[in-house]
Formats: sequence, C-alpha cells, structure tokens
Amino acid sequence: MSPAIGATLNRVDGRFKVRGESRYSAEVPVPNLTHAVVVNAKIASGRITAIDTSEAERAEGVLAVLTHRNLSPVATVPKLLPSLAGLAAPGQSFFPMQDETIHYAGQPVAIVVADTIERADHAGTLIRFEYAPTPATTLLDQARDQAYVPERIFGGLLPGHASRGDVAKALAEAEVCVDTTYRFAPNHHNPIEPSASTAVWEDADRLTVYDSTQGPNSVQFTLAELLGLPPISIRVVSHAVGGSFGSKAMVWHHPALAALAARHVGRPVRLVLTREQMFTSCGHREEQEQRITLAAGADGRITALRHHKLSLTSPFDDWAEPSLQSPSVAYTSPNYEGIYHLVRGNTITPTFTRAPGEATGMFALECAMDELAERIGVDPLELRLRNYSATDPESGKPWSSSGLTECYQRAAELFGWHGRDPRPRSRREGQWLIGTGMASALYPVTQPVNPQRARARLYNDGTAVVEAGVSEFGTGVFTAMTQVAADGLGIPVERVRFVGGSSDLPNVTAAVGSAGTSAVGSAVHLATTQLRDELIRRAVADDHSPLRGADPAAVQVRDGKMVLRDRPDVGETYADLMHRTFMPDVEVLGTWNPPPQDAGYGVHTFGAQMAEVAVDADLGVVRVRRMVGVFAPGRVLNRKTAHSQLMGGMLWGLGQALLEATRMDPRMGRWANASLGDYLVPVNADAPDVVVDTIEVHDEVVNPLGMKGVGEIGVVGVAAAIANAVHHATGRRQYELPITLEKLL
Ligand code: MOS
Repeated sequence: MSPAIGATLNRVDGRFKVRGESRYSAEVPVPNLTHAVVVNAKIASGRITAIDTSEAERAEGVLAVLTHRNLSPVATVPKLLPSLAGLAAPGQSFFPMQDETIHYAGQPVAIVVADTIERADHAGTLIRFEYAPTPATTLLDQARDQAYVPERIFGGLLPGHASRGDVAKALAEAEVCVDTTYRFAPNHHNPIEPSASTAVWEDADRLTVYDSTQGPNSVQFTLAELLGLPPISIRVVSHAVGGSFGSKAMVWHHPALAALAARHVGRPVRLVLTREQMFTSCGHREEQEQRITLAAGADGRITALRHHKLSLTSPFDDWAEPSLQSPSVAYTSPNYEGIYHLVRGNTITPTFTRAPGEATGMFALECAMDELAERIGVDPLELRLRNYSATDPESGKPWSSSGLTECYQRAAELFGWHGRDPRPRSRREGQWLIGTGMASALYPVTQPVNPQRARARLYNDGTAVVEAGVSEFGTGVFTAMTQVAADGLGIPVERVRFVGGSSDLPNVTAAVGSAGTSAVGSAVHLATTQLRDELIRRAVADDHSPLRGADPAAVQVRDGKMVLRDRPDVGETYADLMHRTFMPDVEVLGTWNPPPQDAGYGVHTFGAQMAEVAVDADLGVVRVRRMVGVFAPGRVLNRKTAHSQLMGGMLWGLGQALLEATRMDPRMGRWANASLGDYLVPVNADAPDVVVDTIEVHDEVVNPLGMKGVGEIGVVGVAAAIANAVHHATGRRQYELPITLEKLL
C-alpha cells in the first residue's frame, strides 16, 4: 500500500459536482421556505429621512418589509477579528439597519420577505426612501491629506508600523537608490457562487443556517453574539461552496439578516446576494498605493528598505491588507521601515482578497527590484541571489525551511531564463514586442490562534469516518483530508469518508491565509495516528493477539493490518481485533495546538515566478505567452489539487496584472462596474501555457506534516513578473495595476 499523501487523487466530491448533486446553501430543500431580498442604500453618506413601505407591503406575496424601524436590533456587534482567531469574525465592526445613518453606498437599508424571490425583488423596488446626503469620500485622492498611521491593523493582530536599524542614514549613504510609488485599483473576489444564507428556526433558541462560508464555526460564533444566543443554539451548515477567494472568510451581514427576517416572519428564509450586491456586501481589496525606497551599494546589495502603504478603509475599522509582511523579510536588509497610512472613506470595511497583502506588497517590491537590477546592470535573478537571506532578516532566526534558491534555479531552467538579453525592446516578432520578467514569491505561514480539532471513528469492518468543521470551497480540502486520514490509520483511501461543513463538527479555523488545509490536516493527522496507536496498544496487550507482548513502536499498520515492522507476516487486522474484543468502533478526538509564531524560527513560504509577454507595438495590447511558477510549499498532500491551486493562483495573478479593477464613480460614491460583464477576470482565452512545479522542502516546525500551504502563494509575484516583462518588451515601467492598454500607448 503506497502512501496516500502526495498521491494524485481525484476530488472525492468531484462526482457530485459534475453531476449537479452538490448542495449549495441556496439549494438545500427546506419546507415552508420564504425568500428575502436586501435593498441597498443609493447614497454613500448621510441619513434616511423618510421611508414609505406601504406600497411594498401591499404587493402580492409579501410577508414582511423590514427597515431599521421594525427590525429587532442585534444584541452585540463584535469587533473585527480575523477568523484565524477562532472566535466571532465579523467582516466589520458595524452592523447595518440599526439606525438611519448611511456610511456607504450599498449598505443594507431594508429587507423584503415574500413567497417567491421575484415578488420580494419587485416589492423592494416599491419602497420609497428619502435621504439627506452628506459629502462622501470614496477615493484616496479626495482625502490623502487626512491620512493617519493606525496603532494596529488587521483586527489588532499586526502593528501599524515597524522598523529596524537606521533607514535615514542608510539612504543618505546609498550608492544607488530606487524610489517608486505603485497604485492599485480595488479588486473584488467574484466567486461563481454568490453568498447565500438559508435560516431555519426550529424553535425560539434553535437556529440552523445553511451558509456559503469559508468557516462554519466562525459564522456560528458571530451569529451567537449578534443574536444574543449561546453557541449551542446555532448550527451552521455549509455542504458545498462555489468559490470564495476571501469573500466568505469573514462573516458579513447576510446570515444574521436572514436569521432576523426568519424570526420575524416565523418561517424559514433564504437570502441570496445578487452579483451586484457581491460588490458591496463582502469586502474587497482596498484602493491603495505603495511607495518603495530601496537603498543599495553599487553591487546591488540592499542596505535599506522603506515601504509605505496608503490605503482607503471604512469609517469603522483600521483595515489594511497586510502588504508589508513578506516584503520586510524577502531580502537581507539591515535597515527597514514599514508604515501603514489609512484614510477613512465611505466604504464597507475591506477584507482578505486573494493573497491578501502579499499580492500587492510583493508587486511593489519586485518591480522596484527589477528597476534596481537595471540601474546597476545586473541580471534580475542574480540581484535576488545577491540579496538572498538565509535567515529571517527581521528576527535573525533561521528559516524553518526555505527552498527559495532552488525555486529560482528550477524556474530559470524550466523557463530558459539564462542567456536573456537584458536590453529593453531587444526582441520583436512582427508587431509584437517580446519581453521576459521574473519575481520572487513569498507568503507567510499563518498559524491559527486556537487549538484545531478533528474526530476519527474506525468501525469494526475497517472503514473510518473522519470529521472536522472545515468547509470545502474548491480547495480540495475534503480530498486531502481523506488522504491524511488514510495514511494516519494505515488504510486505503476508499475506506475513509471525510465529513466537514458543519459547526457541529470539531472546531477548526475558517480556511483563510492559506492555512486551512494545514490546520485541519494537522488535527486529522493527530486524530488518526492516535486512533491507530490506541488499537496497537490494545493488540499488544491482548492475550489472543498474535502481537501480544510486542513493543508498540515495533508495530506498523498496512492496509488495515497491524504487523511487526520486521516480521510483516506476524499481525492481525483492525477488524479481527475489534470483532474479537467486542468493539463496534473506536473514536478519538485529535487536538493540534499550533506553535507560537515566534518559536525560534522564521516561517515563510517561498517561490519564483517568470513570465513572457508580447506587447502589440501599436495597440498596447499585452498578451502573456507563458508563465513558470516554482514553489516550495512544504508537504504536498495531493499533487493534482495542489497543482490546480498553484496554477489557479498564477492565473489570478495574471488577472491582477492586466484585468482586474473595480472603478469608483466618485460623484455617486458607487462602484461603476459591479458585474461580471464589466469586472474583467482572466478566461481561457487569456490563459497562456502555465508551468507549475514544486521543490521539496521538509519542515519540522510548522506542523506535524510539514505543510506550508498552496492556497495563495501562486498569486504572489505574478503581476510583478508580468510588469517586469512588459518593461523588458517596451522599455516602459508600469506603476499602476491593472496594466491596461492605454498605459502603453
Ligand atoms: Mo484568503 S483571501 O486569505 O481567505
């Protein structure tokens, strides 16, 4: 029996998905169901001065029209705390429909409940609102003079500023200095499945919510606080989730609104956000700019890095996606300063979005590095090698594992980097200018704060069910967990069933920050190996077992049979032992306590990205012709799903580079392109040949299986590699994402 971990196993839920049998949160059959539609504020700032709901209330099929006047208020609005903390994780510390104040366009102002979704939608258009608008800030440029440096960002988990050494002195003494500012358009997640909640009250203190989420337990704890109920009153179920990209990492208003509406009408309520509402209801990547100042010697060795970020946040929270973390440790630099500057605007609190922070932070750093390489006349890859840091430059501690230089080497081989003519505009094919570029990819290994749990139960026929509260939103986690469980127990994958997607199951973190699979995987590994060890202990203590008296450490399990390591003919199956000793099943709860973040090592995931572009010399059209990404993500649980995630990440990086932008209309304070027709994401026709490879690194520090995560590092560095390739092709530096064709005319 070869190990299941590392194998290429098709998705265990794939069959259900392609047959249309997966149950999404808006599809769960519920008797007596009603439908809710949210009505959103049209102004970005001000007050509601009058509401007339009479016509809407008279409309056919309408059961209730709820506004702040008749919606029962929420009990407590929890403060923003990222879901890795394992507690309530609201997307913002503001809950709408509690009074007449409007803070951002799209803020919920009414809910209509009707017997059909069409009737609810229609009745929503019949509500008359009068507003007293006040001036709104929706763009950085409107208020950059009001920027402040927050004490802490990210729900208090990260400092607003950090420094080491003396940056000013190093800058004054630098032989070469690169000082550039990059601007980033806001981005929205755009999963295929919009957020949806179906709320069912069994009685006054028993609520089930079918919710499309990255973390059923986060939803449970958040709803408990909002509704003023104990967690035992709330069950959150997430059978299948159609993508997320961070939009379902935190808990937004719709599950609580659905629950409040359902309580009001005394019937189950289904609330599905429209595509347009997905642009105002689940956060986004904030509008931002980042200034990078690099000081270096003539040999390119960096002596100082200054990294300032300026971004737009909400009226309620000091949110900035953490863009400074990976750049601060990417290269050896004795002097460093990183500062977040925030401007309060009339927007929902921004949130985790596809490699939150690193996708933009590493873009800025890696474009500046390319400029530095050009300035001193050194190959961009050679410049990175000269500045490679074998220890965490922040703490001086060794990396728990790295693999970065191997990633560079392998990427260069696969791409054919060496021998590149560094001169811009040196390659041309007809009307197409050809260029190549590269970038480093770094992503932090984020550890959950709370213990992670999983349950394993082995039956006396040798099959096992393994459970944890994680939801499957396309990452392949159910498949990977089946593999971890199979190896932990020593049985084939076909005999394991993994069950997730409910807050009734053992508590695990919401799957965010590329930490989902490693968090639940560690718990599953511990639960299943502890269960295996328990049965081995029972066998060696049993007078009727062929293993009686053996040293438990000398026993291994293969294909459900416990055998002596050096005498595989001596042993018995789990099933034999369990039948003989009247055990119908054995069950173990495994608990993994994540190591503290500062356990004596720097922990990060590393990779290298390379891209080749063709730019139309007359029209400015950029086509990405090929991409190579090589990563060192630690233990790979499933080659196929890991490859898919890394490749998918790289394609999202292409989207970030060339396509993705949400445009704000500052006159209305509203998004101007809130649809999948106008917000461009990469499609097959945009996708070039993508080569993905991994470098094996063993990591004894991060968790029991040495997993560092593949969820998001694929995105990081891609946009910089493309921007650097565009410069190589055209001789024109790119300081703003996305790189649309007018920037190349
Ligand atoms: Mo992921 S964007 O950290 O939910």
